[in-house]
Amino acid sequence: MGLMQRRRFLQGSAGLALTTQLPAFAGYADDVPRGPFGADATAEQATAGIDLTGKTALVTGCNSGIGYETMRVLALRGAHVLGTARTADKAAEACASVSGRTTPLVLELADFDAVAACADQIRAMELPLDIVIPNAGVLLGEPRQVDGLEMHFVVNHLGHFLLVNRLLDRIIAAPQGRVAVVGSMAHRSVVGIEFDDLSGRSWERSAYGHSKLANGLFAFELARRLATTQATANVLHPGVIDTNIFRHVDFNIPKNRFKTIAQGAATTCYVATHPSLTKVSGVYFSDCNPEEPSAAMRDAAMARRLWDVSEELVRPYLS
Ligand SMILES: NC(=O)c1ccc[n+]([C@@H]2O[C@H](COP(=O)([O-])OP(=O)(O)OC[C@H]3O[C@@H](n4cnc5c(N)ncnc54)[C@H](OP(=O)(O)O)[C@@H]3O)[C@@H](O)[C@H]2O)c1
Repeated sequence: MGLMQRRRFLQGSAGLALTTQLPAFAGYADDVPRGPFGADATAEQATAGIDLTGKTALVTGCNSGIGYETMRVLALRGAHVLGTARTADKAAEACASVSGRTTPLVLELADFDAVAACADQIRAMELPLDIVIPNAGVLLGEPRQVDGLEMHFVVNHLGHFLLVNRLLDRIIAAPQGRVAVVGSMAHRSVVGIEFDDLSGRSWERSAYGHSKLANGLFAFELARRLATTQATANVLHPGVIDTNIFRHVDFNIPKNRFKTIAQGAATTCYVATHPSLTKVSGVYFSDCNPEEPSAAMRDAAMARRLWDVSEELVRPYLS
């Protein structure tokens, strides 16, 4: 890939990380209680006083960045955290380094056999899943495919789609199961899912944002499917945080534009645990409060279609 091509790819993939977020429209999620926390809150502050003893939480990508802090704080509050990483060593090291009860698991989201194996291992524990946090994600510096499918779409969306679907009965079995999908404001960089060419070859510039739109559409369709249960599904933007996610890309973001990692895990932990959100489902959050997502993310027909297409793509692995 040439330099200009690479620049254009990065601009399309992550350029929105530097733009100002759109203000919430009056009327969006008006019925959702506004919390006392904002952009500065840390995950510890957002969960202060919350006792998660007896609850089980699954966090993907627990060895790094936001996922690590999320695991640390949920375990601190008493949850048994199942933490996934791409290798057994990474998962074990991360889990061993936090206080509280944790269980390391291997999960490679680009390999659907591995996703199914991870889900089976969790199922074998015969535990209800109170909290599921599809957090792991990549931001690639170059276009890549996995079995002909664009790689951000596979890792950030499809792998999690498969994992959550294989665990859905365990989530529904919890007294109030919550799925808190870690999306991104980068979803605003695209206007729709590229159903006609999921290889990404014709839209490589916007691949990261495309996968983050898919995260939100997945969460909202899941919320609709869970509507008759106690379980909920929401999606969130964690902020812009200087983590390993930027290791493949080479733009300079001034340090004062970043949240700290402690702040970056706050919205995830808030959405996953706060008692005021027991019945809140199908909502996009940022800075620990609801925020209007893009029109594309609120497109219910697109969400249904993405669900159907995703189901077809992973069907051999679904059961
Ligand atoms: N940081 C930000 O500014 C920002 C902004 C908006 C949204 N987000 C989202 O926040 C989430 C967490 O990102 P982060 O910033 O904490 O980045 P990070 O530090 O790079 O953590 C990403 C995690 O995902 C794992 N992962 C990557 N590829 C994987 C794969 N193929 N299979 C399984 N796991 C994989 C990584 O494992 P390895 O360590 O082995 O690579 C790591 O554990 C992502 O979904 C990201 O899109 C981040």
